Amino acid sequence: MRVLLAGASGAIGRYLIPQLIAAGHEVTGTTRKRRALEFTGATELVTDVVDRQAFLELIEGFEFDAVIHALSSLARTPLTFVDMRETNRLRSEGTSTLLAAARLTGAKKFIFSSHVYGYGFRDHGSRILDEESPFGQLPGTRLDAVQKSLLSGEQQARAYGGVALRYGMLYRGRGPIRGIVRDWDGVLPFVHFDDAAAATVLALETGAPGSVYNIVDDEPVSWAELQRARAETFGRAEPNGQSSWFTHLAAPFAAQLTAETAMKVSNARAKADLGWKPLYPSYRDALTADKELVDHARAVVSGTASVLRST
Ligand SMILES: NC(=O)c1ccc[n+]([C@@H]2O[C@H](COP(=O)([O-])OP(=O)(O)OC[C@H]3O[C@@H](n4cnc5c(N)ncnc54)[C@H](OP(=O)(O)O)[C@@H]3O)[C@@H](O)[C@H]2O)c1
Repeated sequence: MRVLLAGASGAIGRYLIPQLIAAGHEVTGTTRKRRALEFTGATELVTDVVDRQAFLELIEGFEFDAVIHALSSLARTPLTFVDMRETNRLRSEGTSTLLAAARLTGAKKFIFSSHVYGYGFRDHGSRILDEESPFGQLPGTRLDAVQKSLLSGEQQARAYGGVALRYGMLYRGRGPIRGIVRDWDGVLPFVHFDDAAAATVLALETGAPGSVYNIVDDEPVSWAELQRARAETFGRAEPNGQSSWFTHLAAPFAAQLTAETAMKVSNARAKADLGWKPLYPSYRDALTADKELVDHARAVVSGTASVLRST
């Protein structure tokens, strides 16, 4: 398929490009930064999707089979509600612009990158949420804008015959150790970037038009436990801890997830309908795999150094 990947330079975009190419697809990726896609194998389209008219003029004459929406402004962790404004806009108006692009270029397939936090920022207890659970409800707080934009993106995409993918928190095995909330241990659904990208390729190829899938691994984990396990695995210092009241004060949006939400989400539909099977069913698998890679790289470097010393 000829795929237009909007947000190709982003975190999920970078994992998606090689998997799409390996599956035989041709990728054209958008970015606002020249040469951001160098050496990726994707054709680069430098554009700002927010400038709807300029973007649509730019892509006139192109032909695509599919459009993937992977735009967000989440590269810097959103701490406050103001930090979410651009992402909210990319989810609602951005989807409308990308659907116009799909119509213009003949693309029949469309993927919208949604988020499990559309199920609501609260403690869902032991209940397992599935795709039929209420989504995008408005609590009557500053979260309404976040939920409205997610629902808008999903509804527009599905009405077109596209697919919405509700990713869990995207993570890598090795990575920076982030701060934690000491007095909140609610579990959240996570999914490794590699697995999220694999699910996206499968959804593109076999997802039912108008459908929605949760893309989460098998073992939810608390934000704090993931940071502690990462620190322990890679021999790093314990994460800094804050109380939940301080987190609410300093980072009110981030606190909604890390100091208030507990959620278990089913991935049964993606497994059954897409044939998706996470390579890393648990965060522990990803940590172990990355630790082996790091140890192997160290062994190679120290082996090479001792050979050089002895010659
Ligand atoms: N990260 C997560 O944990 C997570 C979890 C669940 C769902 N998601 C969803 O997955 C999708 C991708 O997330 P991500 O973490 O990969 O995001 P990211 O790393 O922030 O990447 C976002 C991409 O959007 C592009 N972009 C931002 N503003 C733009 C604009 N005005 N015009 C054109 N391009 C723009 C950026 O391109 P340039 O800067 O190169 O222009 C970048 O390629 C989003 O829809 C997000 O909601 C993410």
